[in-house]
Amino acid sequence: MSIKLKTPEQIEKMRIAGKLAAEVLEIVEPFVKPGITTGELDKICYDHIVNVQKAIPANIGYHGYKHTSCISINDVVCHGIPSFEKKIKDGDILNIDVTVIKDGYHGDTSKMYIAGKPTITGKKLCEVTQGCLYAAIEIIRPGIRLKEIGKTIQKYVESFGFSSVREYCGHGIGEVYHDEPQVLHYNADDEGVILKPGMTFTIEPMVNTGDWHTRTMKDGWTVKTKDHGLSAQYEHTILVTDNGVEVLTLRNNEDFPRIITHP
Ligand code: MF3
Ligand code: CO
Ligand code: CO
Repeated sequence: MSIKLKTPEQIEKMRIAGKLAAEVLEIVEPFVKPGITTGELDKICYDHIVNVQKAIPANIGYHGYKHTSCISINDVVCHGIPSFEKKIKDGDILNIDVTVIKDGYHGDTSKMYIAGKPTITGKKLCEVTQGCLYAAIEIIRPGIRLKEIGKTIQKYVESFGFSSVREYCGHGIGEVYHDEPQVLHYNADDEGVILKPGMTFTIEPMVNTGDWHTRTMKDGWTVKTKDHGLSAQYEHTILVTDNGVEVLTLRNNEDFPRIITHP
């Protein structure tokens, strides 16, 4: 398995696509309130990508998917389908996941939102999920094995008594949406590749309050926790640099460095 390294020109395009994807998560934020439907939130994302960014929503037509975003509420782990019938309720936790294509390159990112008054468990789960993504990003530098990412995430999540979902993983990304390598969010046997400058991939841990098993609904998309516990997810697209990592989908209001360098 050989993973193509991005050239400086390609990296610049990844930066632009990443920034646009991050911007979508920011502009939709003020609308995430009890009473709005996930269909309306999806339309806000679509309109911004197409009309303002003049970019392409990568999910539309992806394996027959019809929407711009995946919106996954409470016990939905991932791939929740937006619907004008589905209203957000007070205390709901929801993930919005968008991928934008600009100039042929993909930016893929997601974050959690809490509607109205947070529940203690919902808030804690969201914090831990963001925390495990940050912990994984912080160790990235050339020379380490991909396996270290999953190991870091699993250890972090389990120290809070939560579990890391195993059936879905992060992925290489660039001109191709879901490329090699697979980025596992748990400590698997496979050592994985050695990270090199110019690699771009996503890290997108899904974390459950109960156990990690999931079940896909009859619609063929919606993935829920098997035990009906809550689930949260955060996703960033990152670049391995010469001495660390760059977060390509960092949001302006996000309290995390865009670039981390290791001496
Ligand atoms: N954005 C998701 C990911 O992080 C994939 C969604 S595919 C869709 O890789 F078709 F469900 F939109
Ligand atoms: Co995504
Ligand atoms: Co992804």
